[in-house]
Amino acid sequence: MQNIIEQLEEQRVAARLGGGQKRIDAQHGKGKLTARERIEVLLDEGTFEEWDMFVEHRCTDFGMEDNKIPGDGVVTGYGMINGRLAFVYSQDFTVYGGALSETHAEKICKVMDQAMKVGAPVIGLNDSGGARIQEGVASLGGYAEVFQRNVMASGVVPQISMIMGPSAGGAVYSPALTDFIFMVKDTSYMFVTGPEVVKTVTHEEVTAEELGGALTHTTKSGVADRAFENDVEALLMLRRLYNYLPLNNREKAPVRKSGDTIDRVDMSLDTLVPDNPNKAYDMKELILKTVDDGDFFELQPDYAKNILIGFARIDGQTVGIVANQPLVLAGCLDIKSSIKAARFVRFCDAFNIPVITFVDVPGFMPGTSQEYGGIIKHGAKLLYAYAECTVPKITVITRKAYGGAYDVMASKHLRGDVNFAWPHAEIAVMGAKGAVEIIFREDKGDPEKLAAKEAEYKARFANPFVAANRGYIDDVIMPHNTRKRIARSLVMLKEKKIENPWRKHGNIPL
Ligand code: HXC
Repeated sequence: MQNIIEQLEEQRVAARLGGGQKRIDAQHGKGKLTARERIEVLLDEGTFEEWDMFVEHRCTDFGMEDNKIPGDGVVTGYGMINGRLAFVYSQDFTVYGGALSETHAEKICKVMDQAMKVGAPVIGLNDSGGARIQEGVASLGGYAEVFQRNVMASGVVPQISMIMGPSAGGAVYSPALTDFIFMVKDTSYMFVTGPEVVKTVTHEEVTAEELGGALTHTTKSGVADRAFENDVEALLMLRRLYNYLPLNNREKAPVRKSGDTIDRVDMSLDTLVPDNPNKAYDMKELILKTVDDGDFFELQPDYAKNILIGFARIDGQTVGIVANQPLVLAGCLDIKSSIKAARFVRFCDAFNIPVITFVDVPGFMPGTSQEYGGIIKHGAKLLYAYAECTVPKITVITRKAYGGAYDVMASKHLRGDVNFAWPHAEIAVMGAKGAVEIIFREDKGDPEKLAAKEAEYKARFANPFVAANRGYIDDVIMPHNTRKRIARSLVMLKEKKIENPWRKHGNIPL
């Protein structure tokens, strides 16, 4: 018995040492934590229950039978984040560069399967050289087993990927299938083919960082949701994100009340929108002044900045915020912003999180690059997402709501539950100038007449009352009351239930 206990302890020590002290030091030398240190930061202290510490690979090629490390390059198990269950896998770069073998994949699949059975999120800490080259197709099979589970878990339990080292080749597709991707600046990168292959095929010279670093994916490609300075900051921010999310699609997000009362008014909002309708203002100010404690967890803050998305709370309840940002491209909808917001709305809908939409949108972005890029199809994604969404939807039009973009941005017609407008809102088919130039084309040579018509059009349509007359707007509210009115609406909508017709799945324009 004593012998077995000693053996057990020896094996545990070996597993904890991963690829050995030299490689651990190298990992630290790059400014990275080890797989286990990352789990310690991520989970509540002392809550980690590790599984499969003694799993070893089964490969017998290239002398691998004499080269086994218990745990096989990934640390798996579960624990708590602020007292709430989370499943986790953390790839150990010190063991074969964190490369994925058949057994490594089996370990990941085991926690994913268990997470689905009990209804809890899966967090993947990725730091891997990709497929374990010595294992060939067995490794590829392992990846596909993970992919299949990612897809089955999509919309059932939240899945979060943290990229904390390399993620290359087909290995990028597991994170890509998950709900959120965080990256660490300077030490992580994601690409389908690396710089060498790029050079051979397209003759482009590019570094790994330029091709797939954290800044690239949070500013250019939109693949990642946030970039952080180092491992610790990234893991602590992941804990913050976790607090906003329900554990699964049958639960609601946890309520965390603060001292911020729901009837708090903010008089400064009455002057947020400039008198000149062509002048920009910062929509983020409205968000910060409306939500609990000014606490807004923004996602993709540096990508498609003409739309803002993220989580916040109102009266302690998690809400998803979508808002046009007049500071960038006048807040218009284009391809990138439509896709960015559509995916976020679908996440909220899948996980019972009400959607609050702040609208100031002059329309869809015109131009050949948008049309050739498929704005029709991509804009339809956002329309589709809002239209199929059954969670509470509250919309506040602060200024412009023009054309198709008015319809798209959670309008009454797309089953908006509560639709408010501020007094200076302009809800119309298009701006007065454009409208008059079309309707009164024959008066093109008469600027005075056109100006008079423009003023007439403005007076008639550039206001919230035409829409309010028809009940498309439930009320015209004072800006300073926005928080109060949204909070009351959320209370009213608490038990909202509507169902879409049965179908295998819809066919969102991809
Ligand atoms: C087995 C691997 C490995 C791999 C790295 N190692 N990648 N072992 N399979 N894929 C080992 C190295 O041999 C080395 O072992 C240790 O991990 C650390 O690697 P280094 O190269 O010393 O580290 P570094 O300089 O930081 O470079 C990291 C790296 C590089 C950029 C990831 O190792 C690399 O390019 N690896 C190959 C990447 C690759 O082509 N993967 C396959 C992609 S295709 P020692 O013993 O010296 O410490 C793919 C398909 C998935 O993934 C398909 C899914 C559909």
